[in-house]
Amino acid sequence: MDSIRLRSLPRLFLALLLFFVSFGYAMAQGAQPAAGEVGTSKNPSEAGVTPGTVAAAAPAAAAGTTTADPAAIAAGDALFKANCAQCHAINDVVVGPAMAGIAKRRPMSWLIPWIKNSSKMVASGDEYAVKIFNEYQKQQMPSFQLSDAEITSIIAYVTDAETKTVAVGTGLDSKSGDQAAVDGTATAGGEASSSMNILLIVLVVVLIVLVVTLVIIANIMKDVLRGRKDLDGRDREQIEQRFDYSRIYKSTAVRGIVGAVFVLAVLYETIQGAMGVGLSQGYQPTQPIAFSHKLHAGENQIDCAYCHTSVYKGKSANIPSPNICMNCHSQIKTESPEIKKIYRAIERKQPIQWVRVHNIPDLAYFNHSQHTQVAGLECVTCHGPIENMEVVYQYSALTMGWCINCHRETPLNTKGNGYYDNLVKLHDSKNGAVPFTVSSNGGTECSKCHY
Ligand code: HEC
Ligand code: HEC
Ligand code: HEC
Ligand code: HEC
Ligand code: HEC
Ligand code: HEC
Repeated sequence: MDSIRLRSLPRLFLALLLFFVSFGYAMAQGAQPAAGEVGTSKNPSEAGVTPGTVAAAAPAAAAGTTTADPAAIAAGDALFKANCAQCHAINDVVVGPAMAGIAKRRPMSWLIPWIKNSSKMVASGDEYAVKIFNEYQKQQMPSFQLSDAEITSIIAYVTDAETKTVAVGTGLDSKSGDQAAVDGTATAGGEASSSMNILLIVLVVVLIVLVVTLVIIANIMKDVLRGRKDLDGRDREQIEQRFDYSRIYKSTAVRGIVGAVFVLAVLYETIQGAMGVGLSQGYQPTQPIAFSHKLHAGENQIDCAYCHTSVYKGKSANIPSPNICMNCHSQIKTESPEIKKIYRAIERKQPIQWVRVHNIPDLAYFNHSQHTQVAGLECVTCHGPIENMEVVYQYSALTMGWCINCHRETPLNTKGNGYYDNLVKLHDSKNGAVPFTVSSNGGTECSKCHY
């Protein structure tokens, strides 16, 4: 009798553990929508409205209240990540300005035409547009074929995300610079995860208290049983036995679970790996000489084309030969061990073995001059903030989708380019309302890049 009761103790323990874990999980599940509700409308019937009605919610957001529809915010989140996050973050300047407070800075009537076609706004002489354009070194923000409702939802998302970051606050004005620039996701959803954390801590504390209580109860029961006279030898053995840890890893159940977790982990890694074959975004090899773009292109403002001489003229942007370094380093920092590596390369007549960072496969054709000289794109659009990089890393994905997306969205730079005059006339006479993008000119045809 007693031995049976005693054996069921671990089971009771396990049942309690499972109960608390599932209880905690259910609580955590419940906590998520609760946290999300902070920025939502008080009117539950508004949930799940169509994008058309979203427009009505936005002026309220612009007025500073945080009343916006969760569906619109979610849609805005997705749109922002897909279109804007490569250049904008909520609280940090990436390529373009930080988005926080945008609804207070500019009215919707300004934001919509700006996002649809910022260069048109600048050309029209809009005071604010010209000012911000000049402030950001005349970098053109691409045009977006988004509907008014879609733009409204992006702004709703920004407003929502900024209130959340303020709420979570933590006082640090998250200047985690590069990291935020890379993932661009800022701290949206931070609120939900912080309440999750509190819940987890509470859960762990409860579990510890529970374990301690159970150990105490077990000891008391042992003492009581030891005092009893009517027990036979087997029962006594049962009471006095020490907990045998080897039983845990010998048990088939534990081995099965560990095995399953291992197999799942390997499977997950393999699938992730297979999905990312050929993707090398973020690749940042160590270079043979500690050459810093931050120092040269950033602080000393040396023009990119001073070193990458063919970037406006040719297919590829060349890497400078040691002779170009010598223009300055025959005088500057001549004693530095890093600079001595340049001298050694010249003495031995051997090129410096820079490690290539960007490399699209030979099956695709990419031409720099077409993009820098003809299209007038800035290096930063594709290479990110090189002038802040101590060591260069691959900023863009360089996938086919990346090329094509930009070709779909970017209007052709036809101004002052006689080659395009007739094409533009032809395009405008057929469908003038649609902007004349790279893809309208055949820039998404396979043979433009593969041949
Ligand atoms: C390729 C980079 C790039 C992308 C992508 C981009 N922007 Fe911009 N954005 C800029 C730059 C640069 C500026 C500063 C103005 C200028 O130089 O034209 C700017 C300015 C702005 C401004 C004005 C900010 C202010 O403080 O007044 C808003 C609003 C804006 N962008 C919204 C968006 C939205 C919304 C998207 C996505 C649909 C987007 N941007 C995508 C680069 C970009
Ligand atoms: C003083 C010379 C110099 C200047 C100025 C300079 N670079 Fe470089 N750049 C180099 C050298 C050397 C390398 C190869 C070593 C490395 O990757 O850091 C390089 C590498 C690069 C790469 C990576 C090439 C690869 O392997 O894929 C990019 C992209 C790049 N530079 C862009 C720029 C841009 C954009 C600017 C202007 C903002 C600039 N560089 C200014 C010398 C220069
Ligand atoms: C237009 C002039 C110029 C050119 C060209 C140039 N540099 Fe520099 N470089 C500088 C200046 C200025 C400094 C900063 C010196 C200082 O900190 O006092 C510097 C610093 C450095 C340093 C840091 C040295 C140290 O020990 O602090 C390295 C490494 C370096 N350069 C490598 C290169 C390489 C490699 C090239 C050729 C690809 C190159 N530089 C081309 C101007 C130049
Ligand atoms: C439209 C996007 C785009 C723009 C704009 C752009 N690059 Fe590139 N860059 C690329 C791609 C893609 C590669 C990889 C090319 C390859 O592997 O053939 C690359 C490679 C490079 C390299 C490595 C050498 C090479 O040609 O493979 C350097 C250096 C470089 N870029 C510098 C620059 C500089 C400097 C500018 C601005 C004047 C610039 N790039 C503008 C997309 C761009
Ligand atoms: C940031 C935007 C952007 C990105 C990213 C970009 N391109 Fe382009 N591309 C343009 C623009 C703008 C033009 C039009 C230039 C002109 O006026 O001819 C263009 C033109 C071209 C052309 C000539 C098309 C024609 O009609 O003659 C080719 C080929 C091309 N790009 C290949 C690529 C490849 C390959 C990639 C990716 C590795 C790429 N581009 C990434 C903006 C981009
Ligand atoms: C704007 C330029 C561009 C256009 C247009 C384009 N591609 Fe690509 N394509 C690329 C680039 C760049 C890569 C290499 C991307 C990579 O390595 O991830 C590529 C890769 C590929 C690959 C190899 C995929 C792989 O995983 O290795 C195939 C197949 C392909 N493209 C087919 C096509 C077809 C079919 C079309 C026409 C519908 C097309 N491409 C149009 C730029 C382009």
